[in-house]
Amino acid sequence: MLAAAGSPALRAGVERVPLTRSVVRRFVPGDDLAAALGAVRTLGESGLTVSLDHLGEDTTSAADASATVDSYRALLAALSEAGLTAAAEVSVKLTALGLSLPDGRRRALDNARLVAAAARAAGTAVTVDMEDHTVTDAILETVLELRQDFPDTAAVLQAYLRRTAADCRVFAGPGSRVRLCKGAYDEPADVAFSTRGDVDRSYVECLGILMAGQGRPLVATHDPRLIAIADALAVRNGRVPADWEYQLLYGVRPAEQRRLVEHGFAVRVYLPYGDQWWGYLMRRLAERPANMAFFLRALATRG
Ligand code: FDA
Repeated sequence: MLAAAGSPALRAGVERVPLTRSVVRRFVPGDDLAAALGAVRTLGESGLTVSLDHLGEDTTSAADASATVDSYRALLAALSEAGLTAAAEVSVKLTALGLSLPDGRRRALDNARLVAAAARAAGTAVTVDMEDHTVTDAILETVLELRQDFPDTAAVLQAYLRRTAADCRVFAGPGSRVRLCKGAYDEPADVAFSTRGDVDRSYVECLGILMAGQGRPLVATHDPRLIAIADALAVRNGRVPADWEYQLLYGVRPAEQRRLVEHGFAVRVYLPYGDQWWGYLMRRLAERPANMAFFLRALATRG
């Protein structure tokens, strides 16, 4: 699945099958702004906040990177106009903002500043998603530069990387928003833990560092054991629900999302929208064999 995420031929084949859409809709509520705003409102009725991702990654031209900035500006303006920015922030991928282009570092930073400025004008903030390990340093350094002007910019750290406990110590300072996830890319064994047990142990160690720190941990997982451990670590560190939050993906364990809200926790749903859903969908299918079966069944039924 993770290899398929990078295959243009497979992508073209699957996109030609219209019913693929119904599978996509489980994880991506729609292609356009109206669908995204509708989902924000619906989730808001259950007390859920959101982080919106305008889908796209690995942009190969400066014009596409600028178009991504324009999409985020339009999104933030629409959220503001609809009075939804108290409950909604945005997540951006630096490769969608041009990080892989020849002058990528400078371009991605400049474009990220434009998105962060639009977020501030709308009364909200940005999270910079984490991508594969070849760009970890570039992304974290860019977040630190962005934070000079936009201190509420959140970083994302992946527990499967062997380096991440050390990164958590760097990012656990006052006011620092840090999303901790397991990690979704196919990484070599010298940079990432490969067994579930090792990844989970690393997640708990990293969470311990963030909860004991002075920042705002954003606990991104659907794993029931880790969800329970986060609550216990928060209590042990004297944190109240306003000091940290759970984050889950749109369409994954929706009943758990509502249960956590009902128990008084702050819960944010990662909400992707747009027509560039291929890479995102492949990562979600790779996470769970049952999702893959669901996807293949939908394709077979159509065929
Ligand atoms: P795990 O995969 O062990 O799943 C635990 C349980 O959750 C499963 O048994 C199943 O019940 C359920 N579950 C998990 N994934 C599911 C799915 N796709 N469909 C249905 N059920 C599922 N990664 C990254 O590299 N960079 C990033 O920036 C982000 N950002 C991010 C934001 C948010 C809010 C979340 C929740 C996740 C991310 N991720 C991410 C993805 C993350 O790294 C990881 O791949 C997934 O969250 C799956 O890991 P879990 O912690 O959920 O555990």
